[in-house]
Amino acid sequence: MLNKIEQLLDEVRTLTASNAQELEALRIKYLSKKGCISDLMNDFRNVPSEQKRELGMRINALKQEATEHINALRAKLATKEDTETVYDLTRTPYPAEIGTRHPLTIVRNRIIDIFSRMGFTLADGPEVEDDWHVYGSMNFADDHPARDMQDTFYVQGAPSMLLRSHTSSVQSRVMETTQPPIRVICPGRVYRNEAVSARAHCFFHQVEGLYVDEQVSFTDLKQVLLTFARELFGTETQIRLRPSYFPFTEPSAEMDVSCQICHGEGCSLCKGTGWLEILGCGMVHPRVLELNGIDSEKYKGFAFGMGIERIANLLYRVKDLRLFSENDVRFLDEFKAAY
Ligand code: DAH
Repeated sequence: MLNKIEQLLDEVRTLTASNAQELEALRIKYLSKKGCISDLMNDFRNVPSEQKRELGMRINALKQEATEHINALRAKLATKEDTETVYDLTRTPYPAEIGTRHPLTIVRNRIIDIFSRMGFTLADGPEVEDDWHVYGSMNFADDHPARDMQDTFYVQGAPSMLLRSHTSSVQSRVMETTQPPIRVICPGRVYRNEAVSARAHCFFHQVEGLYVDEQVSFTDLKQVLLTFARELFGTETQIRLRPSYFPFTEPSAEMDVSCQICHGEGCSLCKGTGWLEILGCGMVHPRVLELNGIDSEKYKGFAFGMGIERIANLLYRVKDLRLFSENDVRFLDEFKAAY
């Protein structure tokens, strides 16, 4: 028995545990009722009485040493855990809230991205513009209804200054300073004197496109817009051009894309027609080229303009235009997954 006690003492002195489970296993092995020290105590009953005093003391000493050692291991583990929690420098102190891009920014960036890949660069112009760039240089007649106070916000005290009602004004800004070849898109905010409702707003956003070079034809316009529509809405998308009128293009057209929901069958989104209107376009009117200092004998061009809200509505089915300018985080959070 003495040997056994010595052997266990050696064992106990070298015990280690790297986690709580290991420690508990040691406690069970040495200190529990069915542990090996208990076994020794059971055997102790059969020890001859003259050895009882000596062996009894040794067993008690063994038990005490085992208890102390295991307690020490427990304390060591506890401080180790404490240290890890308190000084875990990799932990974020609070959940990091990630912001979202505004849906109009997402759509604008996608449009810019698509046209950039076709060689268009960005152009910009002022939102507070003069009558010439918004209307005069774009071939609007003096009595054109768009010039009316009902439609356009004029700057008080400066009769020929106004908030631009379309981004076509940037066409003029570009042409007056640049000779062809010109390939630009101009995203920006525009203003119209409209009562605010779910379907109309006093400001919204457009992207204008202008392409001027030698020998540009309507076919080029069609191909550029078809590529754009397929990149934005998917490769199966069809386009349709309907004759229309704008003072600054001749011929002019409105472009529809095949309905995203029913793919042409007819549904409530496309009001049963199978088509959704997305932009206006046409060949730049020769007079517009001339008014802006470009030789219309040598150069031809095409132009197009679209509303970003309109496209965002089609992509994300936003029913109320006002949501775009109210900054309601519940709405904005919906676009976390978009890019
Ligand atoms: N400026 C027009 C509008 O605000 C949109 C537009 C139509 C722009 C045809 C163009 C174009 O460049 O060619 O309704």
